[in-house]
Amino acid sequence: MIGSAKGAPVSITGLGCSVPERVVTNAELARLVDTSDEWIMTRTGIKERRLAEPGTLAMSDLAFPAAERALAQAGADPRSIDVLIVATVTPDMAFPSTAALLADRLGMPDAAAYDLSAGCTGFMYAIAQAYGMVAAGLSEKALVVGGDVLSSILDWDDRSTLVLFGDGAGAVLLERVNAGGFLGFELGADGGGGSSLWLPGSGSRRFDDDGAKFVKMNGREVFKFATRVMVTSAEAILEECGKTIDDIDVYVPHQANVRIIDHAVRKLGVAEEKVVINVDRYGNTSSGSIPLALADAADDGRLKPGKLVLMTGMGAGLTWGSALMEWTHDGNGAMG
Ligand code: ACO
Repeated sequence: MIGSAKGAPVSITGLGCSVPERVVTNAELARLVDTSDEWIMTRTGIKERRLAEPGTLAMSDLAFPAAERALAQAGADPRSIDVLIVATVTPDMAFPSTAALLADRLGMPDAAAYDLSAGCTGFMYAIAQAYGMVAAGLSEKALVVGGDVLSSILDWDDRSTLVLFGDGAGAVLLERVNAGGFLGFELGADGGGGSSLWLPGSGSRRFDDDGAKFVKMNGREVFKFATRVMVTSAEAILEECGKTIDDIDVYVPHQANVRIIDHAVRKLGVAEEKVVINVDRYGNTSSGSIPLALADAADDGRLKPGKLVLMTGMGAGLTWGSALMEWTHDGNGAMG
């Protein structure tokens, strides 16, 4: 799916993020599995990640402070929110949705609330949906949360996945604005590659394998897929919106692996100072990755009103998605 914005201008008016307090270094993981700081740094660029103490944090707990911060930044009353979408692959439970639980906790009696599953691309899918609803007038204020407690589905004995992921969440409020905001979206899915990154025993299809409740990944296949779509999706949305890579002020790629980001940066020809990277501090937080990177760019002064922002996510599905937007508000202090 691809389209440039044709409705009323819609933008992000509030941004909030949240991560668990516990910092887990590569050296700590090397005490659990046969790995090393050197291997993890060279292959992924990850130095540390935030992980919840086992069993202490569900997705709605992580999402709650992020949502509160986004609402506070926008100066929005929770009661005025009419839709809440939570993009996650680690909901509190299959049902009720994490969004319904979160809406109740935040005090949003008038909000439609549902979860969305698109792997690490969930945040991109969710902001595209929210954009459509706000631009068309169905919603006035849409709150989107992206995030995951990936520590809850990791195999702590599997070095090939354990070292890559972290826990984190981000929230954004979407509202109509006078000018600027979202310019377009490109989203896609290829279920043919689904088994390259999956959680096989998590639904109605039964697997006998005891390990089926953990993330399984074919790293090389995901790497090939990721390096391809990070480039093709970005190029497609730029062309659709009549922009070139030189027009971009801030590039926010999904934070899975520095090598994937470096490849995309080289192929697209993005100037280094425009690229946001924080995978070294958070690892891959799935749907939390892009809002956490937006928060960093806001705090380091790169994300200011008028700046053209390109975001591209990719992940399980296999899915991918890009958005192009003209930033319109002051996003400082999203980490609280
Ligand atoms: N520590 C030490 N050695 C390891 C580790 C580890 N943590 N993990 C794997 N190895 C070993 C392998 O067993 C292999 O050993 P062998 O040669 O004796 O067989 C060797 O390291 C090389 O393994 P490769 O898989 O070929 O390593 P590669 O260079 O491809 O890097 C990696 C692996 C980092 C996983 C890479 O493939 C990658 O980044 N893939 C994309 C993963 C990803 O980003 N997934 C999520 C994206 S989607 C989303 O965000 C949910």
